[in-house]
Parts: sequence; structure tokens; C-alpha cells
Amino acid sequence: MCGIVGYTGKSGVGKVLLKGLKRLEYRGYDSAGVAVVQNDGIYLQKKKGMIKDLEPITIPSGNTGIGHTRWATHGKPSDENAHPFKGCSGEFAIVHNGIIDNFITIKEELIEKGHEFSSETDSEILVHLIEEYHEGNLLQTMGEVIKKLRGSYAVCAVQRDSDRIVVARNQSPLVIGIGVEENLVASDIPAILDHTNEVKYLEDGDIAELTPSRIRIWDRKGVPVERETVEIDWTHEDAEKSGYEHYMLKEIYEQPKAIHDSLLGRLVEFDDVDFNSYDTRHIRLISCGTSYHAALVGKYIIEELAAIPCTTDLASEYRYSSPSDLTPFTILISQSGETADTIAAAREAKQRGCKTLAITNVMNSSITREVDEVIYTQAGPEIGVAATKTFTTQLIVLYLIAMELGLNNKRLLRENVQEYRDELRRLPRHVKVLLDQSDYIRDVCDKLVTAEDIFFVGRNINYPVALEGALKLKEIAYIHSAGYPAGELKHGPFALLTERTPVVSILVKDHTFEKMLGNIGEIAARGSPIISVGDEDRELEKLSDDMIVIPSVPPLFSPILVNVVLQLMAYHTARKRGCSIDKPRNLAKSVTVE
Ligand code: M6R
Repeated sequence: MCGIVGYTGKSGVGKVLLKGLKRLEYRGYDSAGVAVVQNDGIYLQKKKGMIKDLEPITIPSGNTGIGHTRWATHGKPSDENAHPFKGCSGEFAIVHNGIIDNFITIKEELIEKGHEFSSETDSEILVHLIEEYHEGNLLQTMGEVIKKLRGSYAVCAVQRDSDRIVVARNQSPLVIGIGVEENLVASDIPAILDHTNEVKYLEDGDIAELTPSRIRIWDRKGVPVERETVEIDWTHEDAEKSGYEHYMLKEIYEQPKAIHDSLLGRLVEFDDVDFNSYDTRHIRLISCGTSYHAALVGKYIIEELAAIPCTTDLASEYRYSSPSDLTPFTILISQSGETADTIAAAREAKQRGCKTLAITNVMNSSITREVDEVIYTQAGPEIGVAATKTFTTQLIVLYLIAMELGLNNKRLLRENVQEYRDELRRLPRHVKVLLDQSDYIRDVCDKLVTAEDIFFVGRNINYPVALEGALKLKEIAYIHSAGYPAGELKHGPFALLTERTPVVSILVKDHTFEKMLGNIGEIAARGSPIISVGDEDRELEKLSDDMIVIPSVPPLFSPILVNVVLQLMAYHTARKRGCSIDKPRNLAKSVTVE
């Protein structure tokens, strides 16, 4: 989950590394550090805390260096456990992302040979292995070192008095940025966008060498290979806050564009995947966190529009489920495409003989190598740890898939699809209307700021939206909250309702509306403050303490609009509570450990 950046060139390595690391901080923020190559050694600066805690630092001038921002796995966050690591001689330095499964055995062997370790991390073995095997050529040494490793790694190594960066990857992302008289390497694209939009993605088993003027790559057999040069259409402005106080707020406000971009070229004909060539009698949707909530909404959408039964699984559970229930078509949803559990689930699904499709936001991310087909959401980079615009665009893709499947199996006629497409086309405008209500939503949040428990309730397609609203509030405002199907409260959680337990209720005018009104009445009778989000209704307004009305859309499309309101609620509540909105405690954007 850590962020890595490496630079070789003449643009002032210190600044490039610090800027790159700031762009990667969403990958982990419990410690950070940089190593800069000098003629007589390697300058190292590292510290527990965020990148800003490294500053002000005076990094000596130099042309080549590596940097790291950490999310602790082995060893607590501390100055000692921060990357980069230098070995005993001080000639080399490394940064690493991933987990070396057999590090204990290797560490014991190295200690026996006289190596002295300064940290509790698995990563530090890498620099000692380099020292142990080095016979004059860092590139060859890296080849020897990775033969010893079991586990996942993206590793970058530098050497005293050399402008080379030698890197290797296995199951952890690493991308090379091609510059002019400079080259870069990073775990993620945002770190290199200031310098270039041309990249090469490394494959598992690859080793590469970068100098300012040359990039060379070898595959796992040691054969020189050319990896395709890919042009990235993200800009460096996409990766900046652009005047917003937080990335999360910027990303919430980017949703009209993200929806528009994800629909672009897909509304007349959606031909990203030819579903006719797959057995889609039953569909399984697998993912984690917010992407799992998108899967849950997706189940309602596909069952409604295509009448195809869907099963949903959390990726971390699917892997251990019985393989007896064979579903021929499996959709994996992951914003980052790097979530370890979802990638493992993709492999498991293939193993079970399923056809697999990934919905992801990150081009060439690891999951794209594991599946038969990929559909990209076009949300642009999402830096805030809380997923917002990517959830919305995942739903957009699920609507498109469902319509295509509905057309294929004749559940839908062309004219129905046309109507739905028109609804999709109107969504950016509706979202803007809600964004304009941000100040009102902020005021409503006064009721949530001091609460210790909050319930989110909904029914049918808005039940998963209740789950998502509760997750967002937990994640960034640190308030315990639970999402429930409204009909379930009376089966237990009612015991928790008091006048200090606000309930956010989602009511849209579908076939559950009347039942929901009944449920809200029961909650109101227990004295809980009720904040309602949904379609305009007199009766509902009377029952609610506050009411946030969404633009009128068919209930099937309401999750996108309701969720925008819940995102703003979580944001404003977290802000009023003074929480670290973009980097909530203990979390990281992509969860690459199982
Ligand atoms: O990158 P992914 O979509 O696979 O990530 C899955 C979850 O880790 C992610 O959605 C997480 O729950 C979000 N931070 C929630 O806002």
C-alpha cells in the first residue's frame, strides 16, 4: 500500500521526490523518506509522520534518488522503520512496496553472515541482499536478489556515485515515466504527471534500469523486452486540489464531469464487451468496501433491467467460499485495480472456470492482467482516500452493462433503452443541483457532529446506499454509524434508538415508499432526530426534522443522487469535527494486503 517514486535527471531530485511523494500520500502516510545519490555516499532523510513532517528539509543537490511514503505492515510506524533503507556499507539504498513472505528466514541467514539490521521491516532485507550478492553490477545483483524472494514487491534501488535506478516488480504496481533527458518510476501515475504523460507499465517478474537517457527492461527469464509506451490522458491538474480545501471535496464536485466522461461514446452503442459471447445466465459481482456497495446496487440494476439473477460477494469472503456454486460470469469491481483481496478473487474465479470482467478506474492496473475483459470508468485520478466519484462512475458502468444485457436477452426494447440513456444523460445536471445545496447540507450536519451513533436506513436499491453513507461517515468523521434495511431496525437495533441517535433515512417514490413512511413514523416515535433524503413529499417532510430533496428521477437512478448528498454529509460532518478528511487515520487508498 506504500507509495514509491524514483527520479534520475537534472530537474533537482529533492523537489521532484517530495512533490511526487505528496501526490502519493494517499497510499500511506505513517512515515516518509528520501534517498539522494551523492558521489561519496547516499544522503538519507526519513521520519515517522506525513510528508509535511519531513519538511523543512534541505536535500543536497543531486540527480538521482528514490522516495517512499509508508503504510505500516511489518513494524510499527517509526523513524527506524521508515524507508528508504541503506545497508551496512551505505553504498546502496532501496524502497519497497509489498510483502516479502519469507523475510524472516532470509533475515536470519543475513544476520549469521554479519549483516546488522536497523528496522523491524521485511523490506530492509532487500538492501542487505543486494550488498551480499553485489559483484560490480547492480542490475545483475537485482536479478539474483529477486530469485530469493517469495511474496510481492515493487522495489527500487540506487547506488553511490551512479545515475542508475534499478527496479523490479512482482504483484505490486510499478510504472516508468518517460521524460526528456530524465526518467521516473513510481507506484502510481499521479507522482510523475508533472514530468510526462508517456509511461511503460512493468509486468510481474520484470527488472528495469533507468538512467536519464535510457530505459531498459528484462522479463522474468532475463530476456530484454520492449514494454508498450502508453499515453496517459490524466493531467497534473487532475492530481491537484485546484483551490478546493480537500481532494475529497474536489472529487465530489467533479462528479458531473466524471459521469459525462464515463458515458462518452457509450450511449449510442455500448460495445466495450460483447456479452453475447458469454454465458450470462447468472452473474456474480465481487469487490471490497465502497466498490462492494456499488456491486450491491449493481445487483438491483441488473436484476431490474436484464432479469438476470445476481450474487454479490465481498472479495475477502469469496476466496474461501465453496466452489460448488459455479457462476459462469463474474464481475470484479475495483477503483484502484490493486486491491489484494479483489485480485485474489479474480484469480480464484478464473480457477473455478468463470469468465471474468473487471470494472476499474486505473489503466493497466494489476487486476486488468487477471481478467478476460476490462471496462474502465472515466473518473480521473481519485486521491482522497474516501471513494466518491469512482463509486458514481462504477454505477454508471453497471447501468450500461445492465441495459446491454437487457437488450441481449430481450427484456428491454430499444425504446426502453433510449429512455434510460436519456435519464443517464441528464444525471450530471441533477448532480449539479445537489452540489448547489452543499451549504444547506452543511447546516443540517450540525445534528450529526456530536452524535456517537448514527443509523442510515433505506430499502431496495437504496439499502446499499445507506450502507455506503454509513461507511463514508465512519471512515472520515470517525463516528460509529450503521446502514440498515429500514424494515430490519425493529428486529434488534430499535433498542439503540434514543433522542441522541440521529437516523438518516432514504425515501424515494418506488414501491417501498409507503412502507418506508411507516418505518420513519416508528423511528420518530422513539424520539430519534430524522434527516430524510429523497423525493419531495408532504407527509415525509412532517415526519422529518430535516429534509434534503433530490431532483426527480426514476427510482432506479436515485442511488447516484442520494449518494451525492450522503457524501456531502460525511464531508461536512468530518470537517466540523476537524478530522483528517483526505487521509483518515489507519487507512490507505489501495489496500494491497490481504
Ligand atoms: O480500489 P478498490 O475499489 O478495490 O478499493 C476498495 C476499498 O478499499 C475502498 O472502496 C474503500 O472502502 C474506500 N476507501 C471507501 O471510501
